[in-house]
Amino acid sequence: METKFLDKLKRIKRGPAIMIQKDVGVILSNSSIDKDSKVLDAGAGCGVLTANLARFVKKVYSYDNRKEFLSIAKENIEKFGLKNVTFKNKDVYEEIKEKNLDLITLDVKEPWLAFENAFNALKENGDLICYSPQITQVMRIVEESEKKFKVVKVLENIEREWMIEGVKVRPKNMIIGHTGFLTILRKNASKN
Ligand SMILES: C[S@@+](CC[C@H](N)C(=O)[O-])C[C@H]1O[C@@H](n2cnc3c(N)ncnc32)[C@H](O)[C@@H]1O
Repeated sequence: METKFLDKLKRIKRGPAIMIQKDVGVILSNSSIDKDSKVLDAGAGCGVLTANLARFVKKVYSYDNRKEFLSIAKENIEKFGLKNVTFKNKDVYEEIKEKNLDLITLDVKEPWLAFENAFNALKENGDLICYSPQITQVMRIVEESEKKFKVVKVLENIEREWMIEGVKVRPKNMIIGHTGFLTILRKNASKN
């Protein structure tokens, strides 16, 4: 039987904390990416967000500054059979070589340190989405982004799964607590 994407996802090699599907969904639905898009994802981590992006766009560049995590991400992407990903052992705070990108995703501790590089690498009106566990990080993102990006939205996605078992029809007892905040930004060339 054919193994589907979500089945493979359950069996990925683990390293740093992965992004979960409820948050991936927010990224996909709050950007204008399509089958012709070029995107950059940093840091690669275990490659979960990279893999989800690569399913839908033309090309993904995936950066991680730690070689050991990059090799986990590479191994996972091979298992997914995705051929449109280029991994780079690079620090996103230092440089982004690619140009005319449609979307940049930053799942790193201090994303604002990559804002200048992201601005130069994105197309006009391109999307920049930061994933951060702490609201103090979001506060800094908003403060720093005002020079280069329009803040479209800040949100937290809470998923509440229900139990459907005969007469037991109600929310499950255990729900996923906090994962992270998503800050949706858009390049605004007039802010240069
Ligand atoms: C939480 S993990 C990312 C998980 C990933 N989004 C996923 O879905 O599997 C954060 C990753 O960012 C990398 N990282 C941290 N700072 C970085 C930087 N300045 N440039 C590139 N990668 C960085 C870390 O090495 C780590 O692998």
